[in-house]
Amino acid sequence: MKEKILVTGGGGYIGSVLIRMLLENGYRVRVLDKFTFGIEPIAEIINHPNMEVIIGDIRKMDDLKKGVKGVDYIVHLAAIVGDPACSVQGDAAVETNFLSTIRLARLARDNEIKKFIFASTCSVYGASGDKMIDENSPTNPISLYAETKIDAEKELLALLDKKPSLTILRFGTAYGLSPRMRFDLVINYLTKKALQDKEIKIFGGEQWRPFVHVYDISRAIKMVLEADDNMVKGEIFNVGATKENYRMKEIGNIIKEIISDTNVEIVKQIKDKRSYHVSFKKIEDTLGFKNEKTVKDGVIEIKDAIESGIIKDPNNDKYYNHKGG
Ligand SMILES: NC(=O)c1ccc[n+]([C@@H]2O[C@H](COP(=O)([O-])OP(=O)(O)OC[C@H]3O[C@@H](n4cnc5c(N)ncnc54)[C@H](O)[C@@H]3O)[C@@H](O)[C@H]2O)c1
Repeated sequence: MKEKILVTGGGGYIGSVLIRMLLENGYRVRVLDKFTFGIEPIAEIINHPNMEVIIGDIRKMDDLKKGVKGVDYIVHLAAIVGDPACSVQGDAAVETNFLSTIRLARLARDNEIKKFIFASTCSVYGASGDKMIDENSPTNPISLYAETKIDAEKELLALLDKKPSLTILRFGTAYGLSPRMRFDLVINYLTKKALQDKEIKIFGGEQWRPFVHVYDISRAIKMVLEADDNMVKGEIFNVGATKENYRMKEIGNIIKEIISDTNVEIVKQIKDKRSYHVSFKKIEDTLGFKNEKTVKDGVIEIKDAIESGIIKDPNNDKYYNHKGG
């Protein structure tokens, strides 16, 4: 029988894509999530024979203990996600993203877990300008969200230096369709806005951002789960594709290419100071990871989902981390 995997935050944007991929590949999955945005994202697979669901809170020790018991691997996704969501609930962000992560890691160490994968973010590079940065570059977090993630990374590396095998994945900015949709992510948001208002604003425009499809993120997680320990143990990998770094103004052009009646306005004022131009050579060289989807694919699939009515009301609060829940 294949391994049993605890996915914390398995009801989220990335988690609800990942758990389907794991189930399709014969893994046994346990989700621990408080379902801030509702249970619908997993409703259709809740009765799958290899699926177990714990509705619980990672800030509670009892729920963590139930989550960890009897699993082989842990993929730790649960968090308060994004700069806006963390800034409106600062204390909860520190408790969830940092303190609970450390508690979970201690339990993992004491419960013979084999692998622990931590979801971090390329946001830890903060405002890094134009130069290409990699996993060895200095981090420069400029938000509470990024601080909670980099603090957790450091503590995990110290705590899990022997077992379980720890891998830290710094995801680029995600986009694309998921059973738990997010329209607060910039590609998804701008596509929606272009369709609804025929007008999008790009603030600044020169900033670099690496984008990665939620499906490719899930593939990367699965690759790490299946990799030999000597390739991934104690390692940090950026997750994305070097060719999928864009200046924000280029995103405006891609959206216009697909939704041609969009008026793209470049506004001088910069709202989000983050800029990072990231190398994904390490994950490609070590694991052979290559993206299968591009930003253009993502814009097309979101446009189709809105136009066909698969997503009925993209303005619903539940699709926005700083509003929903
Ligand atoms: N989406 C991105 O662009 C992106 C980029 C980099 C890193 N990440 C990281 O990937 C992970 C998943 O992000 P996502 O986009 O799927 O976000 P999401 O907000 O859709 O999912 C997070 C999930 O965690 C759950 N959760 C939150 N607090 C909890 C708690 N106290 N107890 C139990 N469950 C709790 C929520 O209910 C939700 O289902 C996060 O750790 C995030 O920091 C995401």
